[in-house]
Amino acid sequence: MNQIGVIGAGTMGNGIAQVFASTGHQVTLVELKEDLLQRGLAMVKKSLERLESKGKLAPQTVDGVLARLKGSTKLVDVAHCDLVIEAVTEQLEVKTRVFQELDRIVKPEGILASNTSSISITKIGAATKRADRVIGMHFMNPVPLMTLVEIIKGLDTSADTLNLIVEATKKLGKTPVMANDYPGFVANRILMPMLNEAMFALMEGVATAEAIDEIMKLGMNHPMGPLRLADFIGLDVCLSILEVLHKELGDPKYRPCPLLRRMVAAGHLGNKTGRGFHVYATT
Ligand code: CAA
Repeated sequence: MNQIGVIGAGTMGNGIAQVFASTGHQVTLVELKEDLLQRGLAMVKKSLERLESKGKLAPQTVDGVLARLKGSTKLVDVAHCDLVIEAVTEQLEVKTRVFQELDRIVKPEGILASNTSSISITKIGAATKRADRVIGMHFMNPVPLMTLVEIIKGLDTSADTLNLIVEATKKLGKTPVMANDYPGFVANRILMPMLNEAMFALMEGVATAEAIDEIMKLGMNHPMGPLRLADFIGLDVCLSILEVLHKELGDPKYRPCPLLRRMVAAGHLGNKTGRGFHVYATT
């Protein structure tokens, strides 16, 4: 499995493209708009240079990795790929459309994976004529640093596909861990209610955002407090994941915090807009 396609050059897509290119794969990164594609490629270069400056990447490797990474604005350029990973916006209709297109374009034996954080792999697979070769590969942000890949088996994902993806994940130097296809899988079913609860605590005036984050950081040894982590993930992404959990599981314990809805409505989406529960410098 050497030819890899990645659809979507946002934070997750460019990180996924980077880790495949860094481990010797030939990668085609597709983004529909040229300016977004260039931004994604620039993010990869910046991340590689950061790793190099910390001595975590041998000198001269940056150019080698970048040489294996090709950008494109056309989906058809992944037709030859052995594995295509979709990392577009977290909306079922958008993902379904991308998978239908990929199913038409990509060679029949190619595997189609989704980096979705909560949408059903079974539903995505059912939109194609190759549900046995559709699987979830849920990477964590920041992709170059986080070692987990949550692997999600849809109802019709074949054992062969699962084995191939487990092996491919190990070749990235990452640890694949299997989950079945239920809303939010494991990572977000457990993470999102915690972040949501931190937002309720803030909304109800239990403590300030700084205090909530400090308590969870120092008290639980989390690398980031929950509100800072929500900002880092993107408040719009948190809201759409909570909405999937709430709708699909039907339990009021997953209802998104009204403060989260207000923040998203105001366009305060976290790090990417410079403001969320905290304020950030934008580049
Ligand atoms: N590329 C390369 N290097 C990077 C990087 C990137 N994108 N981001 C950070 N780094 C490096 C920094 O250069 C730094 O290197 P040194 O330790 O050698 O100095 C190191 O990572 C640590 O970075 P910082 O000093 O800037 O900050 P930090 O110590 O707080 O670490 C962090 C940053 C790794 C992001 C850490 O805070 C962390 O682990 N946070 C939690 C992340 C997390 O929970 N991710 C999962 C989110 S959920 C998700 O992704 C799934 C979903 O569906 C929502």
